[in-house]
Amino acid sequence: MIDIKKLLNDIEETQLLLPDISVDCALILGSGWSSVIADLPTKAILEYSDIPALGATNVVGHAGRLVIAEWSNLNVAIFQGRRHWYEGIGWNPILFPIMLSKALGAKVVLQTNAAGGIREDLTPGTFMVVDDHINMMSTNPLIGPHHPELGPRFPDQTEVYSKNIRTILDQAGVASKTKLPHGVYLATSGPTYETPTEIKAFRAMGADAVGMSTIPESIIANSIGMQVGAISCITNSAAGISKHHLSHEEVIETTDNAKVRMRAFLNAFFTLLKKEL
Ligand code: HPA
Repeated sequence: MIDIKKLLNDIEETQLLLPDISVDCALILGSGWSSVIADLPTKAILEYSDIPALGATNVVGHAGRLVIAEWSNLNVAIFQGRRHWYEGIGWNPILFPIMLSKALGAKVVLQTNAAGGIREDLTPGTFMVVDDHINMMSTNPLIGPHHPELGPRFPDQTEVYSKNIRTILDQAGVASKTKLPHGVYLATSGPTYETPTEIKAFRAMGADAVGMSTIPESIIANSIGMQVGAISCITNSAAGISKHHLSHEEVIETTDNAKVRMRAFLNAFFTLLKKEL
């Protein structure tokens, strides 16, 4: 369960480490996406190991650093790596980036992740705009007593992924010449990859891509009134579709090969977002 007192305290303490910093939006970088921010002008950098609320991430491909940077004239809180439910660390470190970003003034959060492709056209290297999600994590970060700081008791989820942000993502795809199919993202708790039969079931349920993250943060961000967007980098075909066994090394290799395209796409996104904010 979320420890709300601790979460709010941790946010206040972290804000003391970021004096006079306010941001327009947040960017959460998933597996393999960390290197896209090389060379951005930075205003502050905090290692996760220096933010007790987050703690060091030990998942390969997650740098574990909070960088406040200027991107296309926007102030962006960039989380290089996320914490995951499968790490067994509870909800606080997973949700902290969203809550901190909101406290720093962010109205928009863009999440990125790596995912397995279920739909045929979602081959490795493709970027997918998340239109909606299916929560198969067998849990929900809002289980527990109701805390008004986290939104209503029963948050509406008709449009978790903001139409407005999805339109800007599409425009960024055109501007950066990035093919950008849309789809439904399904998350399990992990850390196991799925069985081929699970993938068949998920396909029948309407899932296009599968991963182990993103949904908890999206649930909270939507609940507290932020505009949410999410992009998956398809790093492998899902289990049973892929001709070989799955591995995290393949995930990292595919994202590594995609980093120039990721950067061009995000440049376009923030330029277009700036016009909206
Ligand atoms: N399944 C779950 N998570 C993933 C996958 C996958 O196939 N690829 C990258 N993250």
